[in-house]
Amino acid sequence: MKIITVTGYKGGVGKSTTAIHLATFFSEKGKTILVDGDPNRTAIAWADRGSVPFTVADERQAMKMIRDSEYAVIDTPARPNTDDLKELAKGCDLLVLPTSPDVLSLQPMLETARDLGDANYRALIAIIPPKPSREGELMQKELEDGGVPVFTTMVRRTVGFPKAALAGVPIRDINEPRFKEAWKDYVSLGNEILEILK
Ligand SMILES: Nc1ncnc2c1ncn2[C@@H]1O[C@H](COP(=O)(O)OP(=O)(O)OP(=O)(O)O)[C@@H](O)[C@H]1O
Ligand SMILES: [Mg+2]
Repeated sequence: MKIITVTGYKGGVGKSTTAIHLATFFSEKGKTILVDGDPNRTAIAWADRGSVPFTVADERQAMKMIRDSEYAVIDTPARPNTDDLKELAKGCDLLVLPTSPDVLSLQPMLETARDLGDANYRALIAIIPPKPSREGELMQKELEDGGVPVFTTMVRRTVGFPKAALAGVPIRDINEPRFKEAWKDYVSLGNEILEILK
């Protein structure tokens, strides 16, 4: 089984949205469980409002249900503490750290990366504004220059994500052509992760 943990030092950067969509991606590859490790239970509430193509459990039930899964995606609350991040990294195959593409997030991300050292993680630039803004690319370059391993894939900002959250489904299952590209962002991210996990 492969375990992918989504976390970060900051709140509201798309962790739960990323966990839901990675679990959707992996559910197309094999049996997948999403473990909602956030006491706010954002992911569980998302699934309860509608329907998702994977099992969702909180960390207390997960032990039993995780047994026959091929992929486990773990959502977590924000962790300002890097010791916590290091311990989380030890407990999974890959740590995914979403960050928004703004200057205020750059320095903390660089510091987190320095503390994490050679742990198995990647930064994910999420909620990037539409073109002609180049904030996503700029953030990506700054992080790369700072020696931070960053996913090539970035996730665009679209109202489709809050809409999907409200409907309790992944964006893949909202029948609106304008959201297709946003789902492709997570497909691309999922494929990058599969490549890393090989
Ligand atoms: N790519 C996106 N485009 C537009 N809105 C987004 C995107 N990703 C997330 N959001 C919205 O941003 C808000 C925060 O997202 P989310 O709950 O996934 O973040 P989080 O990091 O899990 O937050 P928390 O720290 O509270 O757990 C939500 O309203 C969500 O719908
Ligand atoms: Mg969350």
